[in-house]
Parts: sequence; structure tokens; C-alpha cells
Amino acid sequence: MLFRGSHILSTDQFTLGDLQRLFAVAQGMEPYAARRRTTRVLEGAILGNLFFEPSTRSRISFGAAFNRLGGSVRDTTGFQFSSMAKGESLYDTSRVVSGYVDIIVMRHPTIGSVREFAAATHIPVISGGDGAGEHPTQALLDLYTIRKELKRDLTELRGMRIALVGDLKFGRTVHSLIKLLSLLEHVHFTLVAPRELQLPDDLAEEAKRRGHSLRATPNLYEGISNVDVIYTTRLQQERFTSEAEAERFRGSYSITNAVYTRYCGPGTVLMHPLPRDSRAGAMELHDDLNANPQLAIFRQADNGIPVRMALFALVLGVEDKVEASARNVNWYVPARIDVE
Ligand code: CP
Repeated sequence: MLFRGSHILSTDQFTLGDLQRLFAVAQGMEPYAARRRTTRVLEGAILGNLFFEPSTRSRISFGAAFNRLGGSVRDTTGFQFSSMAKGESLYDTSRVVSGYVDIIVMRHPTIGSVREFAAATHIPVISGGDGAGEHPTQALLDLYTIRKELKRDLTELRGMRIALVGDLKFGRTVHSLIKLLSLLEHVHFTLVAPRELQLPDDLAEEAKRRGHSLRATPNLYEGISNVDVIYTTRLQQERFTSEAEAERFRGSYSITNAVYTRYCGPGTVLMHPLPRDSRAGAMELHDDLNANPQLAIFRQADNGIPVRMALFALVLGVEDKVEASARNVNWYVPARIDVE
């Protein structure tokens, strides 16, 4: 695909070559993400960061990534603080905001809404998630993380084994990730979910059509044995018709340190797009895993910065100009601060 001037709305847009290009640029962004270097390549550019659903990681990391490239950010969070609360349409909102900023990130609770918003504007739109549909940039940073954690290039991930665990029906990060992983060769997917929350058929059929193996099981312990990566998801309570309906599945799968030690190989990487639900009765990835070095969830979240920086640079056509306006940072960056 041509990144420059494109919307980023679905992982369907990418080829393996696109991912290699994006990840090479993201690799070059690592010193900026690690606060060793700073650049002003996007000085003067403004990001419109529009989030109509709750978010911590995507909203802040998109904004921080744009800031780290030297650009400015204008945020809006929640319908109640935008004029959509007064009945303004997606079309009008898109046309208006396009006059103010250079690129837009948008999250919205309705499937297809970000695409509809993008169709009304002349500036690039990057999806930050559309309901139970897709979350393409999360999948990009997830695959970037898998590659780093397993210390293999994309082509060397041939034959990798991954267990996708939890709410595979509504979990949009899984929907985007399975499409990206399907660009690799011979991936072995184990789908661990209750029958009612299994992966949508069209996504499973497409992965099979591309030559991957898929095995579905409701049994957590069977599903997480003999895999390279476990990708756990939160129960997407907000997508159910009632809280009582979601409650039936809460806590179905909880991976504790004891479960990990008993059922997983020592090199198995633990991933989660976050937020994980740390309330009693949920704990899909238990807090007692926090000291386990194979828990990659915070490294995974950190990878959102270089990957999103790379996307902005490519879409705005400055990927070759980043270093020209760069320097080392002036401020002190602590590696660790102990609390007495
Ligand atoms: N992974 C993710 O999208 O997290 P947020 O909902 O906090 O943005």
C-alpha cells in the first residue's frame, strides 16, 4: 500500500512487504520512544485525537507519538464533550475537524463509523478502534511485539503457535491480529473461548483459506500448552446486551503464575492488548504474574509509541526527514525510581 496520504482503517490494507517497511521505520523510532533522541520533524502539524469510547493506551500513545515527532495534539474525549451530543453527524464532524488539523485519529463505538468518518474528509484518518470491528494499530504493535519477543523476523515466524484466549467474538484486537498473522505462513492458531464467544466464522474461514491451522477448544489448560505466544483478552462487557449476560462468562479463564508454570513452556510469551480486568472474579492475567519475565504486556504497550510514530511519519511522508531535525534530549531520563 501507499502509506503516504492513506487512511489506516483495517489490517486488510497491509501486505507482508508493508509490515516489513513499517517495522523498519518503527525500529528507527526506538531511540525517540526511549527518550534518548528528540525530533521536530512534524513541527507545525496538528493531530485531532477524537475518542468517543474510553481509552488510556491508544489515546495517550497516539498523542505522545505525535508529540515526540514534534507535532501538537488536540483531544476530544467522550460524546458529552463534543457537539455529537447535540445531534451533529459523523459527516459534519469530519468536515469541520478536517479544517482544523492535519491528521485525525478516531475511536467510536459503532462498527464502520471510522470508515464513514474517513469518507467525508480529505485528510488522513487512522482508526483507534470501531466498536467490535477492528483495532488495526493495536494489531500492528502486537505483531511488532511478537517479532521482538520471539527474536525472529516476520518470515522466521513461519509455523509459530499462538493461543488466542477469551472473548474472541467481540475482541476487536483479535479480529485485526488474526488478519495480520494470516499474512505469515503456516501459523497454528488455538482459539480458547466459550462456544458463545468464539471467533466470527468469516475470520476463521479466511485464515483457513490462507493455509493456517485453527483448533478451537473451550479448555484453557489444553489450549495454552505447547504454544509460543498466549494472547489473552478482556471480556468485552460493553458489547453485551446486558451486564447479566456478560456476567455468565466473567472469570472463565484466569491465567495465574501457578497455571503458567504448570501448563506452559518456560519461553511462552504472555500478551494482552490491555486493559486487563484486575477486579476480583476476572483476572484473565493474574497480578501474581507481574514479576514473571515472560509477561510482555507492558513492553507490548510501550511498543505503541514507535509503531504509531512510524505510521504518522509514513502517512505524512516524513519518514526520511526525522533524523535531519533530531538531537539528543536535554533532560534526565531515570531508568528506575525506588519508593522508600
Ligand atoms: N489496547 C487499547 O486499545 O487500550 P485502550 O482501550 O486503553 O486504548
